[in-house]
Amino acid sequence: MNHFHYSNGTLFAEDVAIARIAREVGTPFYCYSTATLERHYTVFAEALKSAGLDATICFAAKANPNMAVIRTFAQLGAGADVVSEGELRQALAAGVPAARIVFSGVGKTRHELEFAVAKGIFQINVESEPELEMLSEVAAARGLVMPIAIRVNPDVDAGTHAKITTGKKENKFGIEWTRAREVYARAKALPGVEPVSIACHIGSQLTELDPFREAFLRVRDLVAMLRADGIDIRRLDLGGGLGVPYDDETPPEPKAYAEVIKASLGDLGCRFIFEPGRLLVGNAGILVSSIIRVKEGSTRTFLIVDAAMNDLARPSLYDAYHSIFPVAEPKAGAPLAEVDVVGPVCETGDTFARQRRLPPMRAGDLLALGTAGAYGAAMSSTYNTRPLIPEVLVKGADYAVIRARPSYEDMRSLESLPGWLSDD
Ligand code: LLP
Repeated sequence: MNHFHYSNGTLFAEDVAIARIAREVGTPFYCYSTATLERHYTVFAEALKSAGLDATICFAAKANPNMAVIRTFAQLGAGADVVSEGELRQALAAGVPAARIVFSGVGKTRHELEFAVAKGIFQINVESEPELEMLSEVAAARGLVMPIAIRVNPDVDAGTHAKITTGKKENKFGIEWTRAREVYARAKALPGVEPVSIACHIGSQLTELDPFREAFLRVRDLVAMLRADGIDIRRLDLGGGLGVPYDDETPPEPKAYAEVIKASLGDLGCRFIFEPGRLLVGNAGILVSSIIRVKEGSTRTFLIVDAAMNDLARPSLYDAYHSIFPVAEPKAGAPLAEVDVVGPVCETGDTFARQRRLPPMRAGDLLALGTAGAYGAAMSSTYNTRPLIPEVLVKGADYAVIRARPSYEDMRSLESLPGWLSDD
């Protein structure tokens, strides 16, 4: 469910016409809907609440680190899950209290650990023994005790794309399930850290509940073992990963997900932490682009648009499907033709869709790519020296540019010519 809809023959985000934003901001741009962000958060929070789970929702900032997006959730009571000093600073700047920030990530540097400890965040999810030793040193040196989770790798197959599955033993994430007990014992013995939690995230865009169930039952066994070892596990961080519909998938409803948690872990007396990213922002964003030209190839018709793989990397990186629809509402019964929708970047992989059936469109027409709110702007680059594109947030009849398009001078501003190459 989202708040992008046709009205009077043209696409709207809530009460703002996309064509108006395109005129005023220029294309391409990302457009997010506040009502959709809020709805997704509320549906998830309500599902957890009605299952009787005591939960803190830490939005996975990596999915969409724009300050305005993080703040929209923070105002609803969300925390943040961060994976770098940059994201941690972004969350703090957006107004997320340190007491609601969880720090995940497989390669935290000493500096990042020092920064997180100094800020007094809620929890650090430790991913390896050397990280545990380093964190202990860093916190103990300041006379502090950091609450931690050890991220365990439950060795279950999430059944998702290989590049975004994280819970198999050959993946780089977490500590092998079978060694968890030993590592918790070490954590208990070390100064500066207090193991209070188990973290488990098995992958992203999951469309079935079974992998979650399997992983959570392993977590359950581990809670019993660790408590028997005298470790006071009182929080469980169950990661993110719940999928969203891009095409015709039917991912589980948050309610069904919450029921699985209630059944597998609900009686342990733990506080739960969730780290949803895509679920909260995916369908709350579209990428709006205009058609530069229509090119008739010998076997295909190409719609060459002004957005490209550097703006939305998912199709070229994961062969991901994104819906594509014209901003001008197609007439009922309009004939559809197969086209390839491609960007201007000099790579064949710069293709958003192949042989997609779309109504007739011409140069200058606007189109939108759906479900672009997660891992869209977040993963963009300036490849081909293309400026990062603006992000716009709509709320009711208002919109605001929440990230401006940089000028070419801005883009060059961190570069300089060494003396031997400069003119004077
Ligand atoms: N927690 C941890 C530890 C994670 O690694 C991730 C995502 C999340 C939470 C949030 O997962 P979500 O709820 O969004 O599924 N770029 C890829 C997705 C990469 C996900 C990485 N980790 C894509 O565009 O599909």
